[in-house]
Amino acid sequence: MAILKLFEYPDKILTQKAEPVVKVDADLEAFLNDMLQTMYADRGVGLAAPQVGVLKRVIVIDPFQEEDENGVLKKGKPMFLVNPEIISHSEETIFFCEGCLSVPGQRAEVERFEKVTVRYLDEKGVQKQIEAEGYVSVVLQHEIDHLDGILYIDHLSRLKRNMLLKKLEKMRASQKAKE
Ligand code: CO
Repeated sequence: MAILKLFEYPDKILTQKAEPVVKVDADLEAFLNDMLQTMYADRGVGLAAPQVGVLKRVIVIDPFQEEDENGVLKKGKPMFLVNPEIISHSEETIFFCEGCLSVPGQRAEVERFEKVTVRYLDEKGVQKQIEAEGYVSVVLQHEIDHLDGILYIDHLSRLKRNMLLKKLEKMRASQKAKE
């Protein structure tokens, strides 16, 4: 397994639409495992292939990690989703404070569907379906958005988006100053 390079805002790859996977094979499974390891290394709960520079419709999520006594996250229930597709959703929405490994150090509240049903292939190519609500539903919508070149900050008002991007710039500038 390997840790992959993460692409951050404003890299153009994050705004591109990813292509469906045609063949689920051992190479893809190895890539999914690398994505998962990369996600854990950065303490993320989800990761989409475009975030590591690959325009394929695959995501990995693990919303149920817990910290051990040393503050290290333990593996929860990781899931690999190939060609995920939201086939239905609730009318009701929820607000949730989201962050993203491609927009480091920032968080903002985003409105999402409360429930979604997602159809996908697992890492063995078997078609599956998951009905998710609340937190897991939010994670799925956030990651599937990445496959269409959409970041969570794209759901914010222009004012909030600009404020967040200013904070990101400031954070990067002060990190650079420390180097
Ligand atoms: Co993200």
